[in-house]
Amino acid sequence: MNTRDIEKIYREFVLPTYSQASLCLVKGKGSRVWDIHGKEYLDFFPGWAVSGLGHCHPEVIQAIRHQAGKILHIPNNFLNLKQAELAKEISEASFPARVFFCNSGAEATEAAIKFARKYGSESGRYEIITMKQSFHGRTLAAITATGQEKVQKGFEPLPQGFRYAEFNDLDSVKRELTDKTIAVFLEPIQGEGGINVATEEFMAGLRRLTDEKDLLLMLDEVQTGMGRTGKMFGYQHYSIEPDVMTLAKSLGGGVPIGALVVNRKVKKEVLTPGTHAATYGGNPLVAAASLAVFRAIRKGKLLSHTVEMGEYLESRLEDLKKRFPVIRKVKGVGLMRALELEKPGAPYVEGARAKGLLINCTQNQILRIMPAMTVTKQQINKATRILKKVFSEAEGKS
Ligand SMILES: Cc1ncc(COP(=O)(O)O)c(C=O)c1O
Repeated sequence: MNTRDIEKIYREFVLPTYSQASLCLVKGKGSRVWDIHGKEYLDFFPGWAVSGLGHCHPEVIQAIRHQAGKILHIPNNFLNLKQAELAKEISEASFPARVFFCNSGAEATEAAIKFARKYGSESGRYEIITMKQSFHGRTLAAITATGQEKVQKGFEPLPQGFRYAEFNDLDSVKRELTDKTIAVFLEPIQGEGGINVATEEFMAGLRRLTDEKDLLLMLDEVQTGMGRTGKMFGYQHYSIEPDVMTLAKSLGGGVPIGALVVNRKVKKEVLTPGTHAATYGGNPLVAAASLAVFRAIRKGKLLSHTVEMGEYLESRLEDLKKRFPVIRKVKGVGLMRALELEKPGAPYVEGARAKGLLINCTQNQILRIMPAMTVTKQQINKATRILKKVFSEAEGKS
């Protein structure tokens, strides 16, 4: 089989919901991946932020193998040892909390929305304020929470009860408040929206506002969670703690898992038996993998490594910016970085891929560069050398 054969099967048998590159990856190790023809790439957007530890981290692989030999799945009406351990682990890494497990980021968003609605049901409040340029997933409620019309178009009528505010603008949030508001839901750093980092002032203002009005402050940490920013969770860069937090992507180190993490200070018992469920949610296999992710971060001291590598990457990207006027801005925190360009980014992504580097473009002009937390200085040097060549060649052409 070659790439063309696989593309042919796709054309016939797979619904075309993704625009895809002609690239079939079959093997990965850390920040390196190989395609079906044996060509090696440096992966600086591993698994769309799922493979936060890099591909096939040995600790995760070992945990999956071990668990697969014991039991893969048990239903959630029985006790699940690995799930219990994982919930405790998440709580210890964040705030005193209780956790609901599901299978993806969008499902975690759904769970957060249902949680907020149920929380407000007695007082007749159901509206959730989300941010423009946000991204929360692709289910019907998640696209409605997402403050971007492009993901909603054609799927109307959308569920009611969402209002959109400007990111980093507390007055804009206040303008969207009504007597029906129950929650504010946002990413601490907007990922798909272009690596927009929330300010301390905004986050602290939101915490004050939500406390004053008895609203839930809910954070989507699907992309920012699990160490990517150099702290275990994005909110830990701020002076605040959320009432509710959603997780997915890196949480499973490559296997599908999502979580709704509810702060114990939310006193009301909201999601009671029969109100929400996910058949696979937090099954022994994925929970064992996720526990291994936590272990690997601890053992490898990957948070401090992420801070160090993140600063190094930033300095190398700043060097590129000095050299190439097409780069407007270097953005981000830790290993969640981006280059904002003056021009569409797709040709740069393709140019990098042709030279063996995988990166991503979002919002048309923003190159997302989010290597694994295990990335090395040498790999960052190699990636920035490739980017330099790509920018030089593009400059030569224009
Ligand atoms: C911040 C954020 N929330 C939610 C999601 C949805 O996650 P999933 O694709 O696992 O449903 C994403 C996916 O990119 C995301 O970046």
